[in-house]
Amino acid sequence: MISENKIDTGQTNIANIDAAGHVTGRSVYVDDMPVLEGTLFAKIFDSPHAHGIIKSLDFSKAEKMEGIVRIYSAKDIPGQNEIGGIIADEPLLADRKVQFQGQPVLLIIAENEDFAEEALKEINIEIDPLSINTDPKEAFRQGQLLCKSRTFKKGDTRAAFENCKYIFEGEAETGGQEHLYLETQGAYAFPMENDSIKIFSSTQGLRHVQETVAHMLGVGMHKIEVDTTRLGGGFGGKEDQAAMWACMAALAAWDLKKPVKCIPHRMEDMRMTGKRNPYKSDYKIGLDENYKIIAYEATYYQNGGASADLSPAILERTLFHGTNSYDISHVLLTAHSCKTNLPPNTAFRGFGGPQGMFVIETAIDHAAKELGLDASIIQRKNMMDNGTEFPYGQIVADCEAKNCWDEIKQRYNISSVKKTIEAYNKKNLFIKKGFSMMPVCFGISFTNTMMNQARALVHVYWDGSVSVSTGAVEMGQGVNTKMLQVAATCFGISMNKIKLETTNTTRVANTSPSAASATTDLNGKALLNACNQIMERLKAVARNIFNEDESATVMVRDEIVFINGVQKELDWKELVKQTFFRRINLSAKGHYATPVINFDKTIEKGHPFAYHVYGTALTIVTVDCVRGTYEIDAVHVVHDFGTSMNRQIDLGQCEGGIVQGIGWMTIEEVVYSEDGKLLSNALSTYKIPDIYSVPKELNIHFLHTDGSDMAIYKSKAVGEPPLMYGIGAFFAIRNAILSFNPKAIAPYTAPMTPEKVLMALYSKSK
Ligand code: MTE
Ligand code: HPA
Ligand code: MOS
Repeated sequence: MISENKIDTGQTNIANIDAAGHVTGRSVYVDDMPVLEGTLFAKIFDSPHAHGIIKSLDFSKAEKMEGIVRIYSAKDIPGQNEIGGIIADEPLLADRKVQFQGQPVLLIIAENEDFAEEALKEINIEIDPLSINTDPKEAFRQGQLLCKSRTFKKGDTRAAFENCKYIFEGEAETGGQEHLYLETQGAYAFPMENDSIKIFSSTQGLRHVQETVAHMLGVGMHKIEVDTTRLGGGFGGKEDQAAMWACMAALAAWDLKKPVKCIPHRMEDMRMTGKRNPYKSDYKIGLDENYKIIAYEATYYQNGGASADLSPAILERTLFHGTNSYDISHVLLTAHSCKTNLPPNTAFRGFGGPQGMFVIETAIDHAAKELGLDASIIQRKNMMDNGTEFPYGQIVADCEAKNCWDEIKQRYNISSVKKTIEAYNKKNLFIKKGFSMMPVCFGISFTNTMMNQARALVHVYWDGSVSVSTGAVEMGQGVNTKMLQVAATCFGISMNKIKLETTNTTRVANTSPSAASATTDLNGKALLNACNQIMERLKAVARNIFNEDESATVMVRDEIVFINGVQKELDWKELVKQTFFRRINLSAKGHYATPVINFDKTIEKGHPFAYHVYGTALTIVTVDCVRGTYEIDAVHVVHDFGTSMNRQIDLGQCEGGIVQGIGWMTIEEVVYSEDGKLLSNALSTYKIPDIYSVPKELNIHFLHTDGSDMAIYKSKAVGEPPLMYGIGAFFAIRNAILSFNPKAIAPYTAPMTPEKVLMALYSKSK
């Protein structure tokens, strides 16, 4: 007897369907599409000043230059000059005022890029300067906020601090992070019949692109079609900020009735787009005599940049993850989104969660140092468990926090790691090792409940081949492969019978962005819903063919039909054909909306997450105390994948996320000058981890759990949570510094670049 179709272990090792295309260079990105004759090229003239009033803007000479077709300014926009996703505070083209260096002012359309580059040099702008601020705390002092501040409250911290034996206060700071997707932003827009536009966009959020272009042109969304094959990486940077490039291309395509391409070069992309929000935070932590954390307060000052973009939503997730994996009875978290003269900062893997977690980890580390303890003692003592209430009201269920921690401990024996390191450090005067533990608890679902919905469209062609469209965008995270697995498993057919179509607003409408690590869950469940509808129709036909009644169980396995577990002389192809001959619909639209979740912003309480993902990392580093350089010796992780539906892809997500997190904490330093100019504006000045700086050893262990039914095939979301293991690198390096110089001044300011390490090694507090 054969049981219902589910992902079995034989199917969890399917290679990413894009792998061959990527390594042979055949995968198609926006800039690889065949260029249509007559295509024009867009360049953006952006503000050279971070803040001021435009006094004069002269492009009369540029306009007349060879190969220049048109130059557009704010007043040429037919609809709204507005691209803000959450708050309408961001013009597409600066009108009277500029608020950051790199802000688009003019759109130049030329016959080729070289003509456009030449024209750029002939544009004159005069700006009356206004005061420039790039610091979030200063912005807060000046009352410059992008949105309403938020507070999460549990218990009564003020009263609780009265009963604490130990109280520690301090500041923590995390820097920005450049997305550095391999493919820069970009869009290619085509004028179509009946005043409509088709846009090929490198975006995570097709609906946002469609809607923003429609508003900008002053037309309905139905006039705008957005199509996305795949991205060469997004990491959050193309969740909302892809819209601008699409608007630029669409504006010109609409007006000139010609195809228009708008793709920035790397330095333009780096200069004009926002990055991970830097944060400055204050904390206060109180413990009892047994090192139980009784009370915790934190105030976050988020550096939002010049416009809100996604910062209000990012701010919210900082609050949701403010207590990471810890059970604390009295909590007060306040978050401010501060307006500064930087490009609008935006989504980046973790979406504010990492920023919030860094602060609680800092508070715990601070307490541990003062008490002469290993931070791991306080971390483990305060670990959450089933029944713990998050500050936002959700009750912890299916908790794996302690399981992950304890499995790491069992596999690597923390106390012997500690002893080995101590012995090593005693023997070596100028090379020191350090270690840290980093637990992670990350909530899965968009924090905005409304966004947790998805749709899919499935056609079974009458030759038995299948077309699948979902709202999911492939950006390297392997969602397309997982979608194929879902459809193949549900139908019981081979993956090579199925084609995964591009993501397109005319096939799947009103998509939420591919983000929040929830893409596979949401779109996978919508797809399953569509496939099941078709499957039910096919099953009815099979019963009919064999004169079976309703009670007969029908299934297809390896393209063969089984009834009541018995193999029949009917295959998938023939069953499909017979269904079509009976004039039965072989297409279906699936829909999914995450059940149970809710959140009431008026009281800041609810059950916003479908489930949580857990894990713990043990990080070991070596610091060269003569040069200030360091190596990551090892990152050992126990991670809760649920029941992974694709171990290779999930492992890849884990490894990539960890390295990206380590980069954010160590060598990736976004630097702006005081007047708001991006100094780390190229790959020569902005360093990301390469193959030489990744951990020498990276071991990821799959925690054995049942998984969650809220996850597709019980395979938990994996896109973002691993990034936060990287936070461990900061504390491990800091510990190594302290073993060289116990009096070192080493502020909790990330990234911990080699320069900062060197300064700390030879600093001395009183
Ligand atoms: N992995 C690759 N290779 N490229 C990416 O751009 N984005 C990350 C993560 N992993 C990203 C990635 C981010 S920010 C998110 S939210 C998730 O993938 C989105 O995909 P998922 O929802 O399917 O996990
Ligand atoms: N995560 C990621 N992206 C988002 C979210 C979120 O919670 N909300 C809106 N965009
Ligand atoms: Mo990811 S930051 O939610 O795109």
